[in-house]
Amino acid sequence: MADTGLLEALLRLLEKVDGGIESQDVAADLGVDHQLIVGAVKSLQALGEVISAEQKSSKRWELTGEGCEIAEQGSHEARVFNAIPDKGLPQNELMLTMTVKSYWITKGSSFSTTITKQETELTPEMIASGSWKEKKFKPYNFEAMGVAPDCGHLHPLMKVRTQFRQIFLEMGFTEMPTNNFIESSFWNFDSLFQPQQHPARDQHDTFFISDPALAHEFPQDYLERVKQVHSEGGYGSQGYKYDWKIEEAQKNLLRTHTTAVSARMLYKLAQQEKFTPVKYFSIDRVFRNESLDATHLAEFHQIEGVVADYGLTLGNLMGVLHEFFTKLGITKLRFKPAYNPYTEPSMEVFSYHEGLKKWVEVGNSGVFRPEMLLPMGLPEGVSVIAWGLSLERPTMIKYGINNIRELVGHKVNLQMVYDSPICRLDS
Ligand code: PHE
Repeated sequence: MADTGLLEALLRLLEKVDGGIESQDVAADLGVDHQLIVGAVKSLQALGEVISAEQKSSKRWELTGEGCEIAEQGSHEARVFNAIPDKGLPQNELMLTMTVKSYWITKGSSFSTTITKQETELTPEMIASGSWKEKKFKPYNFEAMGVAPDCGHLHPLMKVRTQFRQIFLEMGFTEMPTNNFIESSFWNFDSLFQPQQHPARDQHDTFFISDPALAHEFPQDYLERVKQVHSEGGYGSQGYKYDWKIEEAQKNLLRTHTTAVSARMLYKLAQQEKFTPVKYFSIDRVFRNESLDATHLAEFHQIEGVVADYGLTLGNLMGVLHEFFTKLGITKLRFKPAYNPYTEPSMEVFSYHEGLKKWVEVGNSGVFRPEMLLPMGLPEGVSVIAWGLSLERPTMIKYGINNIRELVGHKVNLQMVYDSPICRLDS
């Protein structure tokens, strides 16, 4: 809003005349720059019907005959010459001095020489006191453009996930459906030959669901074979020799690893009339009842790759791990024997970190046990190699985030999400 003194000075000038006044003349009369008068006219227009103003041709003298103009004001050259002050003038400013935007100003239907500020909002106080009756309200401008909403932003984890997904797709893998966070203990543990007394199945490591607490639908004959391999053995195995209980397998939980999904998919594959080799992957959320610290939360994402075919060996697993990690820009790998209930042999994967100058763990892997695959009904001779890693770790390294709470959870700075660059894994 232009300064009120100027607005009222303009209104007093206008009060004295019968018709209207030229904004240029107002500027001359008041001894101010014409642009200030233009601003004052716009402010007064915004107040409603106080004045009416008509913008006049912005190139006034061009509209008159050239000859009479020159007679009045001199030749074009002379005008340009005269418009240039002694100290000189940039060309664009010279153009401005030749262009005239002025207004023809007349009184409006609610003309007055004093300015009352228009209210933009009807407040509860105005209603309560009745003061709204005396106020002037600014009309809504329904033509005004709304504030453009910010576009959506992908979280860094989702950007890195996209890159991992791309790597798997390049390697010919198909994505598994991972949209069930709630799983039964049966698929999360039992189908994977994880014994019912295993410490990971404790309340301390697993979030169990209280409602619905139990799952009821299982492939019955497969469940019987799982029970048998745990309690008595079979398929060349001695089993664990304990009293396997359906009640334990029925317990619902938040899945602790995406290997539960891999188990479901391998069981489904085994139900095919004829076995076909497959390459599957998944990248999704898992939940563990862990103590929280700078690098651990109770939920995180796992990246998992699974390959099933006749005669796959540990050599194939090392080969596919090399291919996968090379695509991530990690070429130096080492393998360390490890233990998982469902893989034998199992290997932890280490890569040499050039920055830290040491070997760091980057994943876990193995060959699924026959005690897991044969009860599913997969043919003898088919082996399944698999590996898993977390999505958070490479994301934190990539984006230089040291505390996981800055990446996930209610303390995340949204600006960090907006500003985070697209992830590119150097390969
Ligand atoms: N499920 C394992 C984990 O949670 C990862 C893994 C997947 C290991 C596949 C071996 C094979 O850490």
